[in-house]
Amino acid sequence: MKETALAYAKINLSLDIVSKMPDGYHNLKTIMQTVSLADEVTIECNPGEGITVDSGLPYIPDDERNIAAKAAMAFYEFTGITGYRTHIKIIKNIPVCAGLGGGSTDGACVLTLLDKIFETMLGRQKLEALGNKIGSDVPFSITGGTKLAEGKGELLTDLPPMPHCYSVICKPLFSCSTPELFKLVKCEKIRARPDTEGIIKALGENNLGDIARRMYNVFEDILPRGKHEIAEIKSTLLDNNALGAIMTGSGSAVFGLFDNIDDAQKAYGQLNRSYRDCFLTETFN
Ligand code: C5P
Repeated sequence: MKETALAYAKINLSLDIVSKMPDGYHNLKTIMQTVSLADEVTIECNPGEGITVDSGLPYIPDDERNIAAKAAMAFYEFTGITGYRTHIKIIKNIPVCAGLGGGSTDGACVLTLLDKIFETMLGRQKLEALGNKIGSDVPFSITGGTKLAEGKGELLTDLPPMPHCYSVICKPLFSCSTPELFKLVKCEKIRARPDTEGIIKALGENNLGDIARRMYNVFEDILPRGKHEIAEIKSTLLDNNALGAIMTGSGSAVFGLFDNIDDAQKAYGQLNRSYRDCFLTETFN
């Protein structure tokens, strides 16, 4: 039994850290949006046992440490299905440690593919709950689109779909570790916060300019290094008429939103001369 699907990346149109929870996690308020950049995930299940992952990349684990393998283990544990050797092949296009939810979307894709292969009909709620066991961004990635995510990321509210636009994404050379960055967060010291409600209102009015103008990510102030590169990428995006540009998630990738393809292509072309990980994507619901 074999199935393949695309696993889409996300950008955060806003990211606010509201408070620290007793278990050390943080209470978030973030608007997430799916974009057309995607990994390709193939799962093959044959009689036998064991879960293996092959991405062809030496820095991505090929065993239970991989979030895709964790997703498969969670699926089998929940459904009680046994007796299958499961091989997961991932063609990685989404850069890792970039804030684009690459690992999480692979994990979500594994859950939905296994649900399809075994015809378990778990449905969105159960798949999101399973996803929540393996990573904070996984529940969003089950259906993607435009959503408000709160709590650790598992409390999801569907928002009016983002107006179609282009998003140029560029990852600086340095990477960010999400747990390391969260360790530096001091909620009481966060000086500026995104206008989340304003973005939700602008989504309802289908007003891309108002959405882009209000975008803000509190992690940008917390970054211990790399601010110069982030600023440089933002400048290039804005100089080429991006309607707004911010870092996504815990970084280090930066994105700009464009309402026309010519400006997006120009920005992409300029960034692509200096940075390896550049993508011209579209928002995707
Ligand atoms: O859930 P996930 O494995 O993606 O989270 C990675 C790390 O980010 C966690 O171990 C935690 O340190 C931090 N985190 C957090 N608050 C969140 C999400 C993640 O502190 N809401």
